[in-house]
Amino acid sequence: MRKYIVAGNWKMNTTVPEGVALAKEVAEKAASLPSNVELIVAPPFTHLSAVGQALKGSKVLLSAQNCADQEKGAYTGEVAAAMLASIPCQYTILGHSERRQYYGETDEKLVVKTRLALDNALKVILCVGENLKEREAGKHFDIVSAQIENVLFHFSAEDLKNIVIAYEPVWAIGTGKTATAAQAEEIHAHIRSVIAGRFGLDVAEDMTILYGGSCKPSNAKELFAEKDIDGGLIGGASLKADDFLAIASSF
Ligand code: 13P
Repeated sequence: MRKYIVAGNWKMNTTVPEGVALAKEVAEKAASLPSNVELIVAPPFTHLSAVGQALKGSKVLLSAQNCADQEKGAYTGEVAAAMLASIPCQYTILGHSERRQYYGETDEKLVVKTRLALDNALKVILCVGENLKEREAGKHFDIVSAQIENVLFHFSAEDLKNIVIAYEPVWAIGTGKTATAAQAEEIHAHIRSVIAGRFGLDVAEDMTILYGGSCKPSNAKELFAEKDIDGGLIGGASLKADDFLAIASSF
């Protein structure tokens, strides 16, 4: 069964007290959401324990924004998948375009990180998406297929049950420029066909594929109405509980 998910990527925003207050508000308001929608928040590493506490007893799940590509040891400043799992944290985002762009995240590293996350019982939200230059050159389908193949083709159909894909066109992130529902749908359908080609139709049909990039209450309904868009990975709008919940109520 395909799951519908709305996840809030807080990026590098909020202090710990601000994050806890936001999480409490989200947790409280999430009580009225239909049970088929999974809600996730992904605060910075420093907030995970306190936000996890604030979410206790609610149906909101906790995600990190990244994890290390090493198991443990002398890697100053890094946070291991096992540490995240011990909080406990249920998910980690991996391969966000900001990490690919500013921190040299490669598909090769993402294979390692995804393996470590799954081995530690963390689910993965794997981000893919083309930049503006690639879109203008008409390469978006190829770029996204390559990102999927380079990472997910190293995993099994069983592993894919614990992986969610987020399509985030880089040109739509934080720019206010959303992909139209039709633009997003054609890439989502393409991603599903790439998965089907390798893992079979049933696996592809069960896969949750989120859209991210200037998703907000005013456009979520139209995006989520598309048959291959199963929710959103929300940046800016996830920092306001009311907007985040309005998006989650858009199915
Ligand atoms: P915005 O919603 O702020 O465009 O960010 C999207 C995003 O990058 C979520 O991971």
